[in-house]
Amino acid sequence: MTVTVGQIGLGYWGNNLVRNFDDVANLTWLCDKSEERLAQLAKRYPNARTPTDFADMLADDTLQAVVIATPVPTHYPLAKRALEAGKHVFVEKPPAMRATEMEELVALAEARGLVLMPGHLLLYHPAVHKLKELVDSGQLGDVLCVYGNRQNLGKIRKDENALWSLGVHDLSVILYLVGEEPEDAVAHGNAFLNEGVEDVVFCYLRFPSGKIAHMHLSWLDPHKMRKLTVVGRDKMAVFDDMELERKITVYDKAPEEPSSTYGEWRTRTGDIFSPKIPNDEPLKLECRHFIQLIERGGAAEKEMRDGLEVVRALELLTESLHAG
Ligand SMILES: NC(=O)c1ccc[n+]([C@@H]2O[C@H](COP(=O)([O-])OP(=O)(O)OC[C@H]3O[C@@H](n4cnc5c(N)ncnc54)[C@H](O)[C@@H]3O)[C@@H](O)[C@H]2O)c1
Repeated sequence: MTVTVGQIGLGYWGNNLVRNFDDVANLTWLCDKSEERLAQLAKRYPNARTPTDFADMLADDTLQAVVIATPVPTHYPLAKRALEAGKHVFVEKPPAMRATEMEELVALAEARGLVLMPGHLLLYHPAVHKLKELVDSGQLGDVLCVYGNRQNLGKIRKDENALWSLGVHDLSVILYLVGEEPEDAVAHGNAFLNEGVEDVVFCYLRFPSGKIAHMHLSWLDPHKMRKLTVVGRDKMAVFDDMELERKITVYDKAPEEPSSTYGEWRTRTGDIFSPKIPNDEPLKLECRHFIQLIERGGAAEKEMRDGLEVVRALELLTESLHAG
């Protein structure tokens, strides 16, 4: 464990990141604007220095990497400062709120030979890898549509709406599975609780190949759903992250060619099966991946491209959402 890591943002999610980075790296700095949070964490990680000023952390020449887990609007300025200080950066999703800002971060990381990795947690989920395998191997046939349900009651956020807080997860997986960027993106939603922060958002995406996708994102919902459905021409697959064991279910269900006599579509219903999915914690895999990228001295081209594509799609959806 030689890579030295400092983290800024020690709230609800930051707490999980600290726990994992402490396992896979040498955690030497913890920073937060809240003295109270720092005092709590300092007890658990006595070897880490705990400033409220980010500049103190960046000034340490022995610090190699910075983890950013603050609210979304702060990601871009903090990531920029860290890259300019010559640190590798892991930044929670999404790294920026505009594609131009994300492009700037990517250019900065490339110019300085630094790793810039967005925290797209689901791309490290073994079940998502299985879905990708099902899609790429052609077992589902041509993918026609994909839709995500990410709903429950709470956590009600004030700094980021449901699209930016919840939608990033589904968007990162949908773009990964489809392998294209959307040419059309429409979003509708409403801010019921905090002015200007949409609690419920419905999104529609159309890709150049004709594939379509939909996302229902909400923290005002009676159902806790973390589900992604892929409808293929030959089979259909569902990733349900609320299931403990049956994370992926493959349905051998499909429409059949129109009969030569009547020209009408029929449907076929076959077996339903559930492939085994490794139990590895996605967050641990994600943190380890960041450290490995640094250790291997490689660029994070794929990770940066994923980040850029997600921010571009979010920007399109946000324009549509605000246009009403
Ligand atoms: N990958 C995931 O599954 C996942 C899940 C939840 C949250 N997140 C992301 O993690 C980030 C943090 O979310 P959270 O739920 O932990 O929020 P939070 O409000 O619980 O914590 C944010 C922390 O950042 C600190 N902070 C805010 N601005 C700061 C600044 N300028 N300098 C230093 N410290 C600052 C706050 O004091 C707080 O301790 C968000 O970007 C969120 O989207 C990711």
